[in-house]
Amino acid sequence: MRLIPQLDDMVAYEPGQPLELVMRRFGLSEVVKLASNEFPVPPFDEVRAAIVAAIEDLNRYPDGHCTDLRAALAAHYGRVGEEIAVGNGSCELLMLIGDALLEPGDECVFADPSFVVYEDLCRRHGAKAVKVPTLQFAHDLEAMARAVTPRTKLVVVCNPNNPTGTYVPVAAVAELAQRVPDDVLVIVDEAYNEFVSAPDAQDALALQAAHSNVVVLRTFSKIYGLCGLRVGYGLCAPELKLAIDKLRQPFNVNRLAQAAAIEALKHQDQVKARARENAALRAYMVERLADRCRATVPSEANFMLVDVRGLRVPPEGAFEALLRQGAIVRDGHSLGCPGWARVSVGTRPEIDFFLERLALLEPGSTEAPERRTS
Ligand SMILES: Cc1ncc(COP(=O)(O)O)c(C=O)c1O
Repeated sequence: MRLIPQLDDMVAYEPGQPLELVMRRFGLSEVVKLASNEFPVPPFDEVRAAIVAAIEDLNRYPDGHCTDLRAALAAHYGRVGEEIAVGNGSCELLMLIGDALLEPGDECVFADPSFVVYEDLCRRHGAKAVKVPTLQFAHDLEAMARAVTPRTKLVVVCNPNNPTGTYVPVAAVAELAQRVPDDVLVIVDEAYNEFVSAPDAQDALALQAAHSNVVVLRTFSKIYGLCGLRVGYGLCAPELKLAIDKLRQPFNVNRLAQAAAIEALKHQDQVKARARENAALRAYMVERLADRCRATVPSEANFMLVDVRGLRVPPEGAFEALLRQGAIVRDGHSLGCPGWARVSVGTRPEIDFFLERLALLEPGSTEAPERRTS
């Protein structure tokens, strides 16, 4: 086998630990997963019904062009179908955009820390990841604009940013887009856009409509609670959509995913209710942690960074100590945020479970950190 040399610099994506595995490994009867920025409750009832109905036709390949879903998205956003690309999750679209643009030696500018997949894009193609440090956990868009060189093909703005949860105003993203040359593609990754509750909440859709070198990526994985089906989409210039069509596999979005996404889109009232609920629970989590003098990074998403310094275990051990007690969070070290854990906003009982488990690790607690097993 003569594997491509780029593989030497790549590592397989490491997802949050599955619930069942953690239960088995530590003999726990109660485990809460707040590690993957998932939505904590199942899809809307109407979506579940649409999925069940679509099972009937699973002996047939899905629509390879996602015609109805693209039409529904086009109507929703006031666009035409040629401006909408659909992928097996927005991750697939990120990969395909990389395939369409990057060659060895090209450069891709993004924040550090940001979504780990951006670095993978570069590695796959022997491109250089130009990582621009965040300022107080938020994108330094000015420094990102300065980092653009004649070799730059891609600039990625993750808004809100994963893993920090921070949000930059769209006017600042627009300024960046205006400063980069027209042949540089700006990806605005809005996987968490629906969760933004800031009074100045905006999105990059108008910016995208005005600039053919901007693509906005969205997903049904987060607020719609459909990450198990894998469906994401991008609003982009028809030229980019065509390039993606040439590179993707023939039936990249499965039948159940298409049916679910079409139905989900019809229920924007429920999306808004979920966003309000998330904002309230996010505030609750911040307040309870502040009561214990535990800092968090202000987040506009469905997750946040929680300070895990000053516990009875070293910050590098906090993730494992919480895991042993059934609270699965994401180790900040591995995400470029040493001293912090990334914790998703769960249901109220899930949040309370996490807070209780974290309390066991606080200096005042007398319980052995690894004791609790239920
Ligand atoms: C910033 C960001 N973009 C994209 C994705 C990918 O989402 P999906 O492939 O499930 O649509 C994620 C998933 O966690 C994410 O955090």
